Amino acid sequence: MNAPASTTLNTDPSLFSGLDVYAVAGNPISHSKSPLIHQYFAEQAKQQMHYGCLQPELDGFAVAATSFFAAGGKGMNVTVPFKLDAQALADTLTARAQLAGAVNTLWIEGGKIYGDNTDGAGLVRDLLAQGLALQSARILLLGAGGAARGVIGPLLEQMPKCVVIANRSNTKADELVKIFADLAAINEVALESRTFADLENSAITQYPFDLVINATAAGLSDESPLSMRAVANIFVPSSFAYDMVYGKTTPFMQQALQRGARVSDGLGMLVEQAADAFLLWRGVNLAAAIDPRAVLAKLRS
Ligand code: ATR
Repeated sequence: MNAPASTTLNTDPSLFSGLDVYAVAGNPISHSKSPLIHQYFAEQAKQQMHYGCLQPELDGFAVAATSFFAAGGKGMNVTVPFKLDAQALADTLTARAQLAGAVNTLWIEGGKIYGDNTDGAGLVRDLLAQGLALQSARILLLGAGGAARGVIGPLLEQMPKCVVIANRSNTKADELVKIFADLAAINEVALESRTFADLENSAITQYPFDLVINATAAGLSDESPLSMRAVANIFVPSSFAYDMVYGKTTPFMQQALQRGARVSDGLGMLVEQAADAFLLWRGVNLAAAIDPRAVLAKLRS
């Protein structure tokens, strides 16, 4: 069940004359850590701004976002389920937002709405900050929905040895392989698709992976997309298992821990994608003034 819609939750820009107003839009949104993260960044960079939450109706994103910008809102983060609506709303998309097929960051400039996607860059920075060597790594990406698509481009740019996209059925995974084939070739990455059933067969899987990223929605319902047979093929103790879900040890993370692998939830990705959005809005010159890892440590404490 979705909570009742609210588009006025501390974000009516007319209430904040003289203060730049930003918001995160999602449905539901009450759980969002984005306001707290941006408050920390604003404190670090000494920025006077307000950041609130918007919860448009499921079919009401375009109206809510248009009214927000018309009232003077400066920028918006967009989360589930509105990232495709945000892409459709933007007048201009960055190249990475086009490739990602989704938008998580909007801002207004010269009367035009711009859209970007900072999710993939956020994931890559969190992985690097946790000591992962992505160059020449063997990467398995679980899921072929919007969350997976959003991170494939930035992962390929790190020039791993391979990126294998696995999904319940391979139609969607095959489609992603086609979309990213050129970028994979430029970066000399073997980009392949598998089904979860394929992962149970070591002759098909061929090797364990250095990094396994769970971008499926399975963790939200306390399930893992992987069978125990697949787990035995995929993980070795040197593997790193990353779940985009945050705030809990998911069944996927538990499986990896049982194989002796290192695990992480997705809180660092959330903070790092927010850092990029903050810099897009407030100016890249503030990069040295913010410290995403300190914000992450605060959130975890
Ligand atoms: P998102 O934007 O969060 O990626 P999505 O586009 O609906 O949401 O994609 C959800 C992904 O999670 C898909 O890859 C989906 O698999 P299917 O394409 O087969 O539907 C996957 N998924 C959802 N629930 C799952 C489950 N219980 N086990 C495995 N995969 C699951």
